[in-house]
Amino acid sequence: MAERTLLVIKPDAVQRGLIGNIISRIERKGLKIIALKIMMLTDDEVDKLYDIHMDKVFYPLLNSFIISGPLVAIAIQGKNSVKIVRKLAGVTNSPEAEPGTIRGDFGVDLTKNIIHSSDKPERAEYELSVLFKEEDYVSYSLINESWVE
Ligand code: CMP
Repeated sequence: MAERTLLVIKPDAVQRGLIGNIISRIERKGLKIIALKIMMLTDDEVDKLYDIHMDKVFYPLLNSFIISGPLVAIAIQGKNSVKIVRKLAGVTNSPEAEPGTIRGDFGVDLTKNIIHSSDKPERAEYELSVLFKEEDYVSYSLINESWVE
């Protein structure tokens, strides 16, 4: 199975009307979206998604921000998709992110940093399992696929 990753469009980006712009960047890169949904997360779901950060000092702020409004969860599949989506995202702290990246173009803050993306394939599978069921994934070919990979 080709590598999968999770990209979350966070509540700040949803409220600012950036969903379309962010999805467009995934599409024009040649990546394939295999599941997508807009949703409100519960406190418990945020704890699961960010289990590795739960004992950090910034966690209460992160949790309350993530539950503050709807987010868009996107499952993406393709060769090297984890690394590619991380590159499209830019570094975590928005003020440090290069122009041309998603956070570099839209973010000014560390907590309200527009998106989340998984940092390694094993982590991607775990995070995807928090937000999606296996039956949510759609298996299909894009007509330009052979021209991309
Ligand atoms: P994200 O990629 O969603 O992963 C964890 C999030 O915690 C991160 O983006 C930031 O929004 C948030 N965060 C807040 N403070 C920090 C910090 N000091 N270091 C790393 N992440 C932080």
